[in-house]
Amino acid sequence: MCGIVAYIGNRDAYPILIKGLHRLEYRGYDSAGICLLNEQLTIYKCKGKVSDLEHYVKAKNMAGHLGMAHTRWATHGEPNQVNAHPHYSQNKKLAIIHNGIIENYAPLRSELISRGYSFVSETDTEVLIHLIEDIMTNESVDLVEALRIALNQVIGAYAIVILSKDNPDMILAARKGSPMVIGIGKDEFFIASDATPIVEYTNNVVYMDDEEIAIIQKEKELKIITITNKRKTPYIEKLEISLNALEKEGFDHFMLKEIYEQPRSIRDSMRGRLHLDKGLVILGGIREYEQKLMNARRIIITACGTSWHAGLVGEYLIEELARIPVEVEYSSEFRYRNPVLSEEDVVIAISQSGETADTLAAIELAKSKGATVLGICNVVGSSIARATHAGVYTHAGPEIGVASTKAFTAQVAVLTLLALQIAQKKGTIPQSRFHQMLSELNVIPEKVEQTLAINEQIKKIANIYKDVKNSLYLGRGYNFPVALEGALKLKEISYIHAEGYPAAEMKHGPIALIDEYMPVVVIATRKGTYEKVISNIQEVKARKGKIIAIINTGDKTVQGLADHCIEIPETEEFLNPLLATIPLQLLSYHIAVMRNCNVDQPRNLAKSVTVE
Ligand code: AGP
Ligand code: GLU
Repeated sequence: MCGIVAYIGNRDAYPILIKGLHRLEYRGYDSAGICLLNEQLTIYKCKGKVSDLEHYVKAKNMAGHLGMAHTRWATHGEPNQVNAHPHYSQNKKLAIIHNGIIENYAPLRSELISRGYSFVSETDTEVLIHLIEDIMTNESVDLVEALRIALNQVIGAYAIVILSKDNPDMILAARKGSPMVIGIGKDEFFIASDATPIVEYTNNVVYMDDEEIAIIQKEKELKIITITNKRKTPYIEKLEISLNALEKEGFDHFMLKEIYEQPRSIRDSMRGRLHLDKGLVILGGIREYEQKLMNARRIIITACGTSWHAGLVGEYLIEELARIPVEVEYSSEFRYRNPVLSEEDVVIAISQSGETADTLAAIELAKSKGATVLGICNVVGSSIARATHAGVYTHAGPEIGVASTKAFTAQVAVLTLLALQIAQKKGTIPQSRFHQMLSELNVIPEKVEQTLAINEQIKKIANIYKDVKNSLYLGRGYNFPVALEGALKLKEISYIHAEGYPAAEMKHGPIALIDEYMPVVVIATRKGTYEKVISNIQEVKARKGKIIAIINTGDKTVQGLADHCIEIPETEEFLNPLLATIPLQLLSYHIAVMRNCNVDQPRNLAKSVTVE
């Protein structure tokens, strides 16, 4: 959601800024803008894509070694040129870009209007830059101090960058609740919402913390202060992202590339953690909290969207294998409903981006009530990774497609390891059975590889159903969250209405929707409630619905009932989600491509949802 890039150094800023905005496009946005400092602060902005901005500035002078750029995901005021960032202060000596929401913008705005300020945009952001100018003028303080005072007055979330005409060698950045990373090069600095625009220039980065202000000056040491005016020592970390991970590498879309990466991303998420030879699972990141987990009165998993679906799989896994009660909560609900929590509870927050505002707030709430909070995150150094007491990274690598694919299976792989680790410690699974389970988990990456071989067959099925308006996804047990995830994938990228349901719940309502046009995707793998799911398929067929069944290789029973069957390898029931999800990802992908949808950047969606 929204992208920020800024540069100060000896190179031309424009190409770095534009490339950076392209790298951040995956986050989702509706307009783009740029500001270069070249004696004047020059701003160009427009509604639409970064390529529209490039086109717009084509014949303009884009010289300058200092600048900032922004992709906006509108919260206050419609996406148009005027509301796009950057925004000037009234005297045009300052310019700002902002990600987040200034919640108390209305009273601040009225106050500033009464003091003679006029607003050109409807954004909350413009309030902040006028406020800074006002403080500088009335309190005769310098820009850094004015910014500090202003940030003490605003309520809400922000990642901001400010340029000043009178300070041509300085960039100011600050954050609270929205991400900001500073890349440190030789006599140059790169500032961005995440590390993707930075990685090709430097591996040395500083992740800013909440309520910090960075004073970034050319050829000087990076200086960081807090909004309460305490000096902080910047903690420089090494980036480990490879540039290839940010390219499509021959695939038509990032989403397809990421679907195909799953054998590797699942393997990477288990590497060094699953020790088959020793019959052990060790998640190093949470070692200190092992006892706490084993003795937990309850585990509460909190997340949003696809990560919430992974959490549901986690509930089935942890309850079945480790015998600890689990609740799975939408972060957005959990944070506002005064949940009953105690020090004996362990909260696990799951997030690909590590920046989801609702999940961050849920973590803070859980911490304030004394619970231990662990994280499962994909983005190293992200806000959630740092806000939790400890955690485990999914090593899926950067996920660029807005629709989450490889991050989901990596989350499920980590949750599986977590459940197995606690189960082993608690002794809830006999060692011989435990060993069998580990062996099967160990070959899952190969089975994912085999599953991907069904791509061409899925393409044909996609072609038959690409024009439907509605669809239903059914599964039971471990396959129920898979059904939810399959339905979410389809609606996100193809805009076809899809609902996921526990198969047996269908007869309590959705069955009314079924007619000869309605495709019903059923996950009908052997084991568990297989026989029951067959009855559910019969119920659909009796009403002339069309069945697309995900089955285990060679299952003649379902083949005799379903209109289309997609065969996947057989595995242990608790590992099914890692395989059954793959064909559903491919089905959504092909349908979306056939409908000419923007697969990697679906309408209205953002990759990291940094506002609530
Ligand atoms: C996934 O396809 C979605 N775009 C979305 O539901 C996502 O999973 C959700 O916003 C949570 O994001 P997070 O994992 O980065 O916290
Ligand atoms: N709230 C600001 C606006 O609507 C910033 C939105 C963003 O994060 O892109 O302009």
